[in-house]
Amino acid sequence: MRITLFGATGRTGHLLVRQALDAGHTITAYARNPERLTIEHPNLAVVAGQLDNDEAILAAVQDADAVIEGVGAVSDGTRRIIAAIDKSAVRRLVVVSTCSVPDPQDLPDAKFKALVQFVKTAAPTAYQEVRRAAEIVRASDTDWTLVRVAKLNNKNATGKIKVGHYGHGIVGLSITRADMGTFLLDQVADLTYLRQAPAISN
Ligand SMILES: NC(=O)c1ccc[n+]([C@@H]2O[C@H](COP(=O)([O-])OP(=O)(O)OC[C@H]3O[C@@H](n4cnc5c(N)ncnc54)[C@H](OP(=O)(O)O)[C@@H]3O)[C@@H](O)[C@H]2O)c1
Repeated sequence: MRITLFGATGRTGHLLVRQALDAGHTITAYARNPERLTIEHPNLAVVAGQLDNDEAILAAVQDADAVIEGVGAVSDGTRRIIAAIDKSAVRRLVVVSTCSVPDPQDLPDAKFKALVQFVKTAAPTAYQEVRRAAEIVRASDTDWTLVRVAKLNNKNATGKIKVGHYGHGIVGLSITRADMGTFLLDQVADLTYLRQAPAISN
């Protein structure tokens, strides 16, 4: 498949690009700092641009079969990516989100609420931005999935990914970036979580 990736130059992004190429996909990486992408491959193209460059974003997504966004707390960028998708044939959108974004199926306990409150206090702008981005994704006409994670780490892939909602005693708070990359890539063709916001952890 042809997958456009926002956030390819980041830590998860590099792992995801490698996983996707190894799986035979063709990747377009949209990057504000293309030189940070240390992978070269015949099936990897880079489109340089900021997240406010509508023309470049459209060029990056218009021939894609799916879009994965792992940039983070930049809701205006999310809005612009969705606007470009709306002008294209692509429908599938997988977005990395966080535990700061609630879901009606969550059953947050006191410990979890304290964590989210800590994030809200320590990083209020990021907290507001990820929530705003999630609202934009949920309101979109795309075939979206919001993948919620609490804490990422750089340990080796475990292959053991728990999926669910917070507070049910299944999903924890930490996952390796490698496992998250695997889950994100799987969502491109797997519609199990279509228009849902699953939480994942190891
Ligand atoms: N770190 C965590 O514990 C954690 C927890 C929950 C959710 N997440 C989410 O998981 C995803 C991956 O996280 P990560 O820690 O692996 O990523 P990362 O290494 O921090 O990389 C972030 C990526 O987003 C790009 N980016 C950030 N701000 C941008 C902006 N204003 N305009 C354009 N591009 C921008 C970066 O581009 P440059 O290379 O140019 O900087 C980079 O490609 C993100 O969506 C993050 O919000 C992370």
